[in-house]
Amino acid sequence: MFVTFEGIEGTGKTTQIGLLAEDLTRQGKRVAITREPGGSRIGRELRRILLSLETKDLCDRAELFLYLADRAQHVAEVVRPALADGMTVLCDRFTDSTVAYQGHGRGLSPDLLRQLNDTATGGLAPDLTIVLDIDPEIGLRRALSRNLETGAQVSEGRFEAESLAFHARVRQGYLALAAADPGRIRVVAADAAPREVFASVRAACQEAAARHG
Ligand code: TMP
Repeated sequence: MFVTFEGIEGTGKTTQIGLLAEDLTRQGKRVAITREPGGSRIGRELRRILLSLETKDLCDRAELFLYLADRAQHVAEVVRPALADGMTVLCDRFTDSTVAYQGHGRGLSPDLLRQLNDTATGGLAPDLTIVLDIDPEIGLRRALSRNLETGAQVSEGRFEAESLAFHARVRQGYLALAAADPGRIRVVAADAAPREVFASVRAACQEAAARHG
């Protein structure tokens, strides 16, 4: 199964992915955890360019194509081989991030983005996508304090520096994507304690696994 996690900054994706990986491993499944941008060797170089505050001058279209390049490399080198090997792949962000951030956030055409995503992935779509949903004010506060703790504010702070209005558009983008594709995308409220949030994540995953067979 291929499961992706989405949401604005500070929703706790990393924590939920860790909890789900533990749970699946306990059930005897082999799990691969990966992420975009930066899930491949080349992708890690692209991630540095994409998230640094020092590349504020990156224009919207150049940003888009770097995310797509990261995705094409990641799918070919990491995701498809892991799925072919029978692993459950848990991926922190995927195609929906591009529609939400570059589409709803930056204003690029969502239809164009869907086509380009398809080219980048060769048509690979997740079996389940969990959108962790939170008020952007709470999410950004969490993300900024995490960045201060880890010292990531200069190396990975480009999106956290965007306005609250930008993140509100991204959040609405995710909710619109979920409304249009309720079979694949589940929205989970992310403002509760991590264990409570995980109960919903786990239920969505079990339901998708039963569907997947
Ligand atoms: P994160 O991995 O720490 O969540 O940060 C990745 C950032 O990149 C996040 O702010 C969202 C952004 N992003 C896009 O704008 N478009 C994309 O396609 C992807 C994968 C991420």
